[in-house]
Amino acid sequence: MSLVKAKNIWKIYGEDIILENVNFTMKEGEFCTLVGPSGCGKTTFLRMLLGVENPTKGELFFEGNDYPQEPSDERGIVFQRYSTLSHLNVIDNVVIGLEFEKSKFFGKLFGKEKKEAYVKAHEILKAVGLDDSSTKYPHELSGGMKQRLSIAQSLVKEPKLLLLDEPFGALDPGISKDMHELLLDIHAKLNFGVVMVTHDISEAFKLGTRVLVFDKVKTDKDYPNRFGSTIINDIDASKKGKNNEK
Ligand SMILES: Nc1ncnc2c1ncn2[C@@H]1O[C@H](COP(=O)(O)OP(=O)(O)OP(=O)(O)O)[C@@H](O)[C@H]1O
Ligand SMILES: [Mg+2]
Repeated sequence: MSLVKAKNIWKIYGEDIILENVNFTMKEGEFCTLVGPSGCGKTTFLRMLLGVENPTKGELFFEGNDYPQEPSDERGIVFQRYSTLSHLNVIDNVVIGLEFEKSKFFGKLFGKEKKEAYVKAHEILKAVGLDDSSTKYPHELSGGMKQRLSIAQSLVKEPKLLLLDEPFGALDPGISKDMHELLLDIHAKLNFGVVMVTHDISEAFKLGTRVLVFDKVKTDKDYPNRFGSTIINDIDASKKGKNNEK
């Protein structure tokens, strides 16, 4: 069964066609990277996969069912900007996600459930290499550490689909290389599906098992949004990715 299936998706804002006729099927555990010019609709597409934006036309399925109308913990997102809460330390930034997931009304856990949440949060912080910093506050972390915390916040909820919108764009090259290894490592262990937007073509090929190129097939220079973007290329990068690793 597919994890995500998009059939003839269109996104139109007013008179502007942003995406047209997008067809996309993704299997469980696949790592898709998404590239394309600025403004072509990559973030819009990601927001549809998250479930916070509806297609104007077309059909979208998650695990074979109609797309859930609300975001859920089955799908997590990490943006270029950090999503940490400044008044909470590292471990509590991770635990709070579990508290809202399990206790929608109170937003708090007690007793045994609370202990379990901390155990789980420590495990995921270990996986992203932040467990030694669990009592630090976000302002005491470097950019790379903050981004690892954002990833931990999503992963602790064990999403089936992780959506990443240029997550490493703001990091120094050396740090983003470490983040690549971290992400590939966690992905190999947990095997969630990934759709990751990036501006960096070499990052797209290094990380993705599949590289999707978004662009317009037709253009009208007098009216840029007369036509929308679609997937103009869907490249198997699984072998290339491995060669690049070595
Ligand atoms: N809520 C909205 N209402 C109207 N237009 C929107 C809305 N959201 C996005 N757009 C338009 O849709 C187009 C695609 O935006 P989107 O953010 O998806 O692009 P992108 O490919 O992610 O670009 P970038 O690489 O710069 O992040 C843009 O022209 C933008 O102005
Ligand atoms: Mg964007």
